[in-house]
Amino acid sequence: MANKFPPISSKLPAFMHGADYNPDQWLHDPKVFEEDIRLMKLANCNVMAIGIFAWSALEPEEGHFNFEWMDHVLDTFAENGIYAWMATPSGARPAWMAQKYPEVLRVEMNRVRNLFGVRHNHCYTSPVYRDKTTIMNTKLAERYANHPAILGWHISNELGGECHCDYCQSAFREWLKAKYGSIDKLNRAWWTTFWSHTYTDWTQVESPAPHGENAVHGQNLDWRRFVSDQTLDFYKHEVNALKDANPELPCTTNMMDWFYGLDYRAFAEELDVISWDAYPKWHEAASDRNEASWFAFNHDLFRSLKKQPFMLMESTPSLTNWQAVSKLKRPGMHRLSSLQAVAHGADTVQYFQWRKSRGSSEKFHGAVVDHVGHEHTRVFEDVADLGRTLAGLSDVIGTYVPAEAAILCDWDNRWAINDAQGPRNGGLHYEQTVAQHHRALWEMGVPVDIIGSDDHFSNYKLIVLPMAYLLRQETGEKIEQFVQNGGTVAVTYWSGIVDENDLCHLGGFPGPLRTTVGIWSEELEGLHDNDRNSIVLNADNALGLEGSFEVHELCDLIHAETAEVLAVYGDDFYAGRPALTVNRLGDGKAYYLAARVSGDRFYQAFYGKLVEEAGVRRSIDCKLPEGVTAQLRTDGDTDYVFLLNFSGTEAGIDLHQDGYVNAETGEARSGRINLPVNGSYILRRNKG
Ligand code: GLA
Ligand code: ZN
Repeated sequence: MANKFPPISSKLPAFMHGADYNPDQWLHDPKVFEEDIRLMKLANCNVMAIGIFAWSALEPEEGHFNFEWMDHVLDTFAENGIYAWMATPSGARPAWMAQKYPEVLRVEMNRVRNLFGVRHNHCYTSPVYRDKTTIMNTKLAERYANHPAILGWHISNELGGECHCDYCQSAFREWLKAKYGSIDKLNRAWWTTFWSHTYTDWTQVESPAPHGENAVHGQNLDWRRFVSDQTLDFYKHEVNALKDANPELPCTTNMMDWFYGLDYRAFAEELDVISWDAYPKWHEAASDRNEASWFAFNHDLFRSLKKQPFMLMESTPSLTNWQAVSKLKRPGMHRLSSLQAVAHGADTVQYFQWRKSRGSSEKFHGAVVDHVGHEHTRVFEDVADLGRTLAGLSDVIGTYVPAEAAILCDWDNRWAINDAQGPRNGGLHYEQTVAQHHRALWEMGVPVDIIGSDDHFSNYKLIVLPMAYLLRQETGEKIEQFVQNGGTVAVTYWSGIVDENDLCHLGGFPGPLRTTVGIWSEELEGLHDNDRNSIVLNADNALGLEGSFEVHELCDLIHAETAEVLAVYGDDFYAGRPALTVNRLGDGKAYYLAARVSGDRFYQAFYGKLVEEAGVRRSIDCKLPEGVTAQLRTDGDTDYVFLLNFSGTEAGIDLHQDGYVNAETGEARSGRINLPVNGSYILRRNKG
């Protein structure tokens, strides 16, 4: 039975294709809007995100609102079959507001309040800012929530940052009181006896500061959690003012690639649909393999947040204006990059921006319509072409990605790892480590979910725990159960070190994982940048891997307790000691990798074996050249396999199964498929 998610909006059950649109910048020249409507249709665009920074156009003076121009935009959209995600304008506020109510502006960590300027420069706690957004959002909702052109709400813009004003300080204290109940409990959780930091009253507690407290890890961690919660609270506050008028309209906010400051998993529970902004730096190297795999990781992350199709809310039709070097997309790359998002679960392809602004800081950022003002450009043609492709793929909408492998990455683990002072302050490279493990699976075409400790583990056959440094006792127990029940886990060095308060697990690392992996980590050594060691595979090891692999950065000196040793260190005083182990527990297996292996070769070989052994599903059963991946979406009956060539060279893929057709033309395909540089190809196959 075919199994699909409903479309993101029942009003537009097709691929959404469009861009951020700022007609408020062109109100002085109405011909531009008329021309934009013509061009939108020519570009095969059916959706725009509007009003993102339109506060001054909507409320030019306090309490004086001007919605006529927006009425005209939306009515004209509706007449022309164009839909809109309407933004709340809180991503930037008018000058009058900052002048009259300085409290809306953000106070930095150094306790200095910012001046009016740029955007995203506001306090999420400020009562005035909250009131002003309620008034604005209520008016927008009353006027537009039932407009035929409106698909949903785009809340603010790229939420992020933190504020250290007095309002935020007292909100932080309230948050702590609610969490700990008593100051004693807080002192114990934060281990404040260290350096005599014991608090005797809540009013003594402040947010971290460069010239104040910044050494208490538990406090830093709670501050990050608070900032994330407070920002989410602001999001909810904005949504409350919108839902009354039409509870059916979905709400989202545009997120950023594995954004550090906010725990997006908590946001996912509140958002109706996930959307994010992807800006890969293509063509930095001869092969785009690394960049593509990083964005594949992110697409997987955003899909996994709600385990349902997501929106690619922004991407550039050509170049950005903020990367160190902004190269143009080479022929094929626009389609390849956009289809990559679709392959991982996006049901929309949207851009920043529709039309280049004439002035200010983003005037050179790529857009569908350039300063020249007409459609006869390479970029416009690429966009229009993609629109045609997407229009032909509407059966893909609502399909899911059948992942049987997952990588565990908690936000608080990332925060704690990067705050820790330990064996290698010169760089632990947590994010790169996660990416490296993911890349090996991506390149084999294995669908992967990116999960957190609160996710269900039982959906998977293989779970990878790269540097799961902060690991709760319960998570350790869940992992143990998962293995007992037949699952495979791969755990690395620097896992199971601290609990949720950033307090070390006592009684031997990796703490709550010790029984599962069957090892004890006695010492961890940081290696200098130029130091190298190696791991040497034992003859006839159970995985059937051979040879030796260079390791760097971190070497964990472990004792195999119940685990079997697969590889040992090659050098130094710990040569011969275990470096890769496997522990059999219940019906499953737990691998432990003790050191960071250089390059990709080891990970390819290691995960190749694990995927085979655990019977993890791949998107297609054939060999994929380096830099070429295959990604699968399915409804259970019909599979869509996206072949994506990021290798920088031509590549051939030999199909071993019959029944595939070209999803765009319906033509039967077998044998070899040749992909040009930046080539992409979509196969369809019915199971029946
Ligand atoms: C972000 C913002 C947009 C724009 C683009 C430029 O994603 O949301 O407003 O500034 O970056 O790349
Ligand atoms: Zn504040």
